[in-house]
Amino acid sequence: MNLLVTGGVGFIGTNFVKYVMSHRPNWSVTVLDKLTYAGRRENLAEYEGSSRYKFVEGDICDPVIVRAAMAGCDGVVNFAAETHVDRSIDDPASFVRTDVEGVRVLLEEFKLDNSRKIFLQISTDEVYGSVETGRSGEGDPLDPRSPYSASKAGGELLAMSYFTTFGTPVIVTRASNNYGPHQYPEKLIPLFITNAFEGERLPLYGDGGNMRDWLFVTDHCSALVAALEKGTPGRIYNIGDGQELTNKQVTFAILEATGADTSLVRFVEDRLGHDRRYAVNVSRASEELGWKPQTNFESGIALTVDWYRDNSSWWQSIKSGEFRDYYKRMYSTRLENSERIQ
Ligand code: NAD
Ligand code: DAU
Repeated sequence: MNLLVTGGVGFIGTNFVKYVMSHRPNWSVTVLDKLTYAGRRENLAEYEGSSRYKFVEGDICDPVIVRAAMAGCDGVVNFAAETHVDRSIDDPASFVRTDVEGVRVLLEEFKLDNSRKIFLQISTDEVYGSVETGRSGEGDPLDPRSPYSASKAGGELLAMSYFTTFGTPVIVTRASNNYGPHQYPEKLIPLFITNAFEGERLPLYGDGGNMRDWLFVTDHCSALVAALEKGTPGRIYNIGDGQELTNKQVTFAILEATGADTSLVRFVEDRLGHDRRYAVNVSRASEELGWKPQTNFESGIALTVDWYRDNSSWWQSIKSGEFRDYYKRMYSTRLENSERIQ
């Protein structure tokens, strides 16, 4: 396949391109990325100059750039998005723009060429909203509760409407929380690992009892390749690992792996509208795609901590830039009013 990978130098995009370059030697990749605060071209520097890799800097909302980047591609994997729930509470407009309008621009260009094979829209388990018990199945109603998840729901619904209306070969995947190398340190796991290395406090929202289903990023990437190769257009596939942990449990795993002290942990004011729990049923991906995750949380978190330990210049350059103002804005008052763990 000749893939257009949008958002290809963000966290999951980077890991996906690396996975494809090493596991599918006959495939080539064009990355289209706007290089927002979350995108880093140097993540894929090792492929610059390869005949199988091309990088295009640009916005998925720009039809001219999208046309040029998609030329010659028979598959699209759309990772490009604004992705951080806390930032979506601060600035919903950029989320609606990229996560909905950007998807429309990509779909419009894609449908001009009937020979194109597959449009893979990367969505999220957050579209189901908070599930107190049980696991969400692909047919369950959507109940997105943050500007981020509402925009992602809009993007995937639009993509599916192109399948129904125009016959565009769309597949949607809804993954649970990913972790692993190259994740921007605004998200829970890389923020807490890097704060622990720096001796900074670890700001746990609310009572630390919110639950997430943690998926090692390489397992997500193998599921996406399986969806491209074996998925049925018009289908939605949940992707998750069933490794459900409270944020407090994740925090203690990080303290143990980094050797940092419990005294760094602080309970801080909660996220607005904070979803208590996400959990997905992945039997469809397992039965129809033959996919199974390979990495348990214990080994995944050890690999991740090692990566951040070995690549401190990667995250230190981020944390000394734009991130500093962001962190101050989001956390300084919260940390002033925080409580230590008992
Ligand atoms: P990320 O924030 O690390 O990366 C996003 C990438 O998209 C960046 O490289 C950024 O520069 C690029 N981008 C943003 N706006 C763009 C635009 N208008 N045009 C072109 N490029 C643009 O995100 P991530 O965590 O790698 O997530 C990738 C995708 O996976 C997203 O669609 C997200 O909703 C979805 N997802 C993420 C997770 C997770 O746990 N991280 C779980 C499920 C689904
Ligand atoms: O479920 C999939 C989603 O997972 C993706 O679609 C999103 O793009 C991705 O950001 C992620 O969303 P979350 O909001 O679950 O991830 P985050 O890492 O921001 O937070 C994980 C949990 O940790 C959540 O319950 C909030 C909590 N948290 C987060 C931060 C940043 C804290 O307690 N303290 C923090 O400082």
